[in-house]
Amino acid sequence: MQSALDLDRRDRLAGFRKRFAIHDDRILYLDGNSLGRLPLKTVELVESLIHREWGERLIRSWNERWLDLPGRIAAKIASIIGAEKDEVFVGDSTSFNLYKLAFGALRYHSGRSKIVTDSLNFPSDLYILEGLIRNHFPDRTLETVGSDDDIHVDEQDIEDRLDANTALVALSLVTFKSSFMYDMARISQKARESGTLVLWDLSHAAGAVPVHLKDTHADLAVGCTYKYLNGGPGAPAFLYVRKELQEKLLNPVWGWFGHAKPFDFSPVYAPQSSIEKYRVGTPAVLSLAAVEPGLDMILEAGIDNIREKSLAQSRFLLDLIREYLVPEGFTIGTPEADNHRGSHVSVRHPEGYRINRAMIEPGDGSRQIIPDFRPPDNIRLGVAPLYTSFSDLFEAVARMKQITGEKLYESYGTEKLRVT
Ligand SMILES: Cc1ncc(COP(=O)(O)O)c(C=O)c1O
Repeated sequence: MQSALDLDRRDRLAGFRKRFAIHDDRILYLDGNSLGRLPLKTVELVESLIHREWGERLIRSWNERWLDLPGRIAAKIASIIGAEKDEVFVGDSTSFNLYKLAFGALRYHSGRSKIVTDSLNFPSDLYILEGLIRNHFPDRTLETVGSDDDIHVDEQDIEDRLDANTALVALSLVTFKSSFMYDMARISQKARESGTLVLWDLSHAAGAVPVHLKDTHADLAVGCTYKYLNGGPGAPAFLYVRKELQEKLLNPVWGWFGHAKPFDFSPVYAPQSSIEKYRVGTPAVLSLAAVEPGLDMILEAGIDNIREKSLAQSRFLLDLIREYLVPEGFTIGTPEADNHRGSHVSVRHPEGYRINRAMIEPGDGSRQIIPDFRPPDNIRLGVAPLYTSFSDLFEAVARMKQITGEKLYESYGTEKLRVT
C-alpha cells in the first residue's frame, strides 16, 4: 500500500483545502457527506451581501442583484449535474421539491398504480411518497425493494417492477447509509422503455460523482446543496425537470413566485410555463447567495477529477479497513465495486455509536475526529476530495483501531445525542 503522505504529495486537488475555513487544524473532519465545510469566499460574500446589498441598498437590491440570483445559481448546478440551465430550479428543501415532483408525476400518470422505491432510500423520501398516497392518491401502492445485506440493491429487482402499470420510480442515486450507487443509465433506460417516470435524489451524489441527467434521459431529480456542494446548513435545494416534461407536469403548490407575472398581484393564479413554475415563495437570498462559492470550486476542480480522487481515497480507505479494522470486529458497510460506490464509506461495528462518540470527544487528549453515525451500527467516513487528505483517512483508521483494541469506547454512554 502506498503511504498516505506520498499520495498527498501527488494529489493534484490538494490546493483546494486551504480555500476552506479550517479554524483548528487539530480537528479531523470526515463529515462532508452530511455538512460540507465553509468556503472562505463564502464568508466574504455573505458579509458584503449583508452590509452592502441588504444594509445599504435595501429593497433596491431585488432589481439590482437578487432577482437574478436563483437563475445564475441554478445554471451552475445544472452544469454540475449534466442538465441544461433551463431545466433546474434552486430553492426550498429537498423534501419539499420531491413532494412537488412526485405529486406532478402521479397526477400525470393517473392510470398507473405502482410507485417503486427501495428500502435504502432516505426516510424523508419514503415519508413523502407514503404521505402522497395516504393524503392524495389512495389508489396507488408503494413497492419498496428490500436489500439482503443493507448495503446493495438488486438493480434487476428494480427493473423487473418497471412496467406499463408503474407511474414512478424514485431512488437515491447514492444511498445515504451504505453509499450504494445505482447505474443511472440502466435504470433510466428501463424506465423510459416502460413509460415510467424516474426521479433521482442526488443529495449524496451532486458534487461528488459525475451525473449525466440529460445524457441518460432522466425525467426528474432533486438534491441538496449542503453536502458536497458546500452550500451551508439548510442551504436551498434544487430540482430538475426534463425540458419536454415541464409543460406537462403540475406543480401542486401554487405560490406567487411561480406566477407568470408575480408583480401584477393578480388574484387569479397563472403559472409560469418554464422551470420557474416550481418557485413558490420569496427566495432565501442570504442562504442562496452562500451556495455560489462552493459551486465555483467544484466547477474549477472538475467533477471528473473530483471523482478520480474520491475513488482513489475510498479504495485506500477500504484497504486500510480490511487490514486494520476487520480484525477488530468491523465489517465493511459499503459496496466494494467502484462503479457502485459513492463518495462516503461506511464501516459497521456492534459498538458503532460509542466508537463514533469516542472519536468525536476523545477523553485522552487525542485528536478529535468527526465522522457520523447512522443506526443501527454504521459509522460513515465522508470523503470530500476538495479538502479530505489521504493522511486524514489513515489517521482516522489508526484511531478507530486504537479505540476498539483498547476498548476506549466503554467509557461512553449509549444515549443518543440529538444530531448523530
Ligand atoms: C438523500 C437525502 N434526501 C433528502 C434529504 C432531506 O433533505 P432536506 O432536509 O433538504 O429536505 C436528505 C438529508 O440529508 C438526504 O440525505
